[in-house]
Amino acid sequence: MKLKDKNVLVTGAAGFIGSNLTDKLLEIGAEVIGLDNLFNGRIENLEEALKNKNFQFHKGDIRDINFLLDILKDIDIVFHEAAFTSVPQSVKMPESCNDVNVNGTLNLLNAARKKDVEKIIFASSSSVYGDTPTLPKKEDMPRLPISPYGVSKLACEAYMQAFHQVYGLKTLSLRYFNVFGPRQKDSPYSGVIAIWLGRIINNEDLIIFGDGEQSRDFTYIKDVVQANLMAAEYDVSGEILNVGAGSPITLNDLAKLILNLTDKKNLKLIYTDPRPGDILHSYADISKAKKIIGFQPEYDQEQGLRDYFIWYCKKYNVNLKIN
Ligand code: UD1
Repeated sequence: MKLKDKNVLVTGAAGFIGSNLTDKLLEIGAEVIGLDNLFNGRIENLEEALKNKNFQFHKGDIRDINFLLDILKDIDIVFHEAAFTSVPQSVKMPESCNDVNVNGTLNLLNAARKKDVEKIIFASSSSVYGDTPTLPKKEDMPRLPISPYGVSKLACEAYMQAFHQVYGLKTLSLRYFNVFGPRQKDSPYSGVIAIWLGRIINNEDLIIFGDGEQSRDFTYIKDVVQANLMAAEYDVSGEILNVGAGSPITLNDLAKLILNLTDKKNLKLIYTDPRPGDILHSYADISKAKKIIGFQPEYDQEQGLRDYFIWYCKKYNVNLKIN
């Protein structure tokens, strides 16, 4: 499906991933409706989009079926990015996580089916794999999530598959691996890179949960946006695809890399207890996404970090030397 002139809905449009995706969709000529309840999302993320005549924003919740039924009329394709996104917060509030992620997604699927939406692309997560020892993670490996968040994303994937099987709705789940980049905010429940950048700017030491030997496959936002476009444009459905950089790094090495890049080698790493619900290693095998939708990440971690930091300093007028 070519996205130009298509009617597209982005849920979670004011969030980090949703807003980046929205901007790209508008750039390629889609008509975009953005939906967000603004709990985590920020309207400032849609500053550019709101100037575009092909964009409409609606404040509302994916758990509200009447709202969805209204919004979904005439929509061809949905990018479902709205979510409860934090692993540690899901450990504190498993019911809220389930309510937003599972009930909200089921609601969206039901509304999409009733309104004859053609395709839904779902933002799943590498957390569905849990702590199984085999690396890299392949899509057909056992999924044994260890956090309520991971369980919720796995349930949504299963609903995506079921709606494809039973109702013929085209669905596709993309398992994101630790996405980072512009608009990721620095809050206690944000991703580690955004948190560390905030601390570096304030000249604070970096906190590491555990021994720092856990690893993540940090993926730059632009590559994730690209994967979504390809997932929409290729005639493929009923699939689950890893979307990662395919190059893991330990938290210790990431900290060193970031301190070098920002010229803050004076800051220390402070080690504290591991975080409950955390998996140890996460590393994507991206061969299936390459084969099926032609996905090829363009950013390595260093290049992505540099671009993100430069964007951040410009946006918030921060004086930080980037090497
Ligand atoms: C992240 C995403 C999640 C996504 C998943 C896979 C966020 C908030 N979470 O989860 O939505 O589904 O990737 O794509 O973006 N850490 C520290 N110090 C800190 C903060 C974190 O050592 O100050 C460690 C954590 O203990 C963890 C690692 O950094 O081991 C990554 O944590 P985090 O950035 O929160 O991401 P995930 O939990 O992997």
